[in-house]
Amino acid sequence: MPIFLDTGNLTEIERYHKMGILRGVTTNPTILLKEGVTGGMPGIERRSREIAGLIAPLPLSVEVTTNDPAQAVDQARTFARWASNIVVKVTVHGPNGELENMQVIHDLETRHNVRVNVTAMMSAQQCFLAAMAGATYVSIFGGRVNNMGYNACAEITKLRKLLDQFGLKAQIIVGSTREVLNVVEWLEAGAHIVTVVPDLLKGMIVHPYTKETVQMFLRDAAKAEEALRIQLPIAAE
Ligand code: E4P
Repeated sequence: MPIFLDTGNLTEIERYHKMGILRGVTTNPTILLKEGVTGGMPGIERRSREIAGLIAPLPLSVEVTTNDPAQAVDQARTFARWASNIVVKVTVHGPNGELENMQVIHDLETRHNVRVNVTAMMSAQQCFLAAMAGATYVSIFGGRVNNMGYNACAEITKLRKLLDQFGLKAQIIVGSTREVLNVVEWLEAGAHIVTVVPDLLKGMIVHPYTKETVQMFLRDAAKAEEALRIQLPIAAE
């Protein structure tokens, strides 16, 4: 399941989904705000239902908007009822390092039948514990890891080894893409999935030398057709 799209933009999701290259979509409150999703929970619900409907049965990640553990469980259960392909994102801990989210993750997965994508993680050790808690997906932010001066590839490789070694079900999603190169290098390092921003996905497809080559093919095809058109009456005589 290697490529997810990291956006809340319906046009972009539809475009790449139609190409058959997506296996899921991820959002977060910042992404939704950037796409003009305002109006609180009704706005999030509307956009989430639209995306989920567009890509079903592929998974859509939607993030809880509260740091209160009980409210997070309630929100997560509500999100999961909006559509059967919704996976709920929960940050690994609170804004000041509060630890309650780990139990929220465990309870959602084991008691409430909600699939959880544990998010905002920067290290293999965070992801490993989230996987131990029962997460379906563990999201490490590769671009931010690199920006802090660490090597995202090394964390991904370490993490994949641990998940395989202990038979944990969690799939690694690497997000926070910054360069086209990230996608292949992170998959190669052991990620199950890379969630890519639309511009970079376009950058993976389009190559300047391919453009030049296609232009040559079309130019020569037109020349050949022109030559055929000129020769045809002669050939018919
Ligand atoms: C992943 O699931 C996140 O939504 C996203 O990739 C975060 O990226 P950022 O570092 O650009 O905010």
